[in-house]
Amino acid sequence: MQILKERILKDGKCFPGGILKVDSFINHQMDPVLMEAMAEEFVKRFEGSGINKILTVEASGIAPAIMVGYLMKLPVVFAKKNKPSTMENMLVTEVFSFTKNKTYTVCASKDYISEGDKILFIDDFLANGNAGLGMIDLVKQAGAEMAGMGFLIEKEFQGGAVKLRNEGVRVESLAVIESLDNCTITLK
Ligand code: G4P
Repeated sequence: MQILKERILKDGKCFPGGILKVDSFINHQMDPVLMEAMAEEFVKRFEGSGINKILTVEASGIAPAIMVGYLMKLPVVFAKKNKPSTMENMLVTEVFSFTKNKTYTVCASKDYISEGDKILFIDDFLANGNAGLGMIDLVKQAGAEMAGMGFLIEKEFQGGAVKLRNEGVRVESLAVIESLDNCTITLK
C-alpha cells in the first residue's frame, strides 16, 4: 500500500537488531486518517470472505482492528495478555516473543469466539509469527475458522508469513519490509 510505504520511509526509524520504530504514526502517536485508509484496504482485500468477527491482541493491534470492525460493521475482540481472574470459559494459549524474549499467556473468552465464527485477525506487526500462530490456536480451540490475517507491516526477513501460510491461512500485509540491514529500510 503506497501511502503506508511512503510514510514508513519518511517517518519510520530503524534500530539495531532489525527493529522498525513507527511511534510517530502507529505505535504511540497514531494517525487516524492513515489508520482509516489502511482499514479500507483490508476491507477491500477481504471482501467476500464471509467474515463475521475481527480479532486482535492487545495492545497495538486494537487501533487498526477497531477501524476495520467499524468499517465492516462487525464486533472486535481483543485477546488479553493477562488472565483476568474473573474470566470464565477461557481459551488460553502461550506465545513466545523473540523481540521481548519472554513467553506470555494470551486468552479470550469462549463467549466471544465460538464455533462457526469466521475470524479476521488484525495486528500491527508480523515478525516471527508466534503471536499469529497463538491466535490460530485460540480460534481452533473455539471451533471457529481463521478466515484471514491482516498486518499493517510485515518484516519478511523474520519468516512469520511463511509460518502462518503453512497453517493454510490467507495472510495480507500492507507494507512488506525486505530488510533493515545496516539500519536502512528496504521495502518490497
Ligand atoms: P511475532 O509476534 O510476529 O512472533 O513477533 P515477536 O514475538 O518478535 O514480536 C513481539 C512484539 O514486538 C509484538 O508486539 C510485535 O508487534 C512487536 N514487534 C516485532 N517487531 C517489531 C518492530 O520491528 N517494530 C515494532 N514497533 N514492533 C515490533 P507485542 O508484544 O504484541 O506488543 P504490543 O505493542 O502489541 O503491546
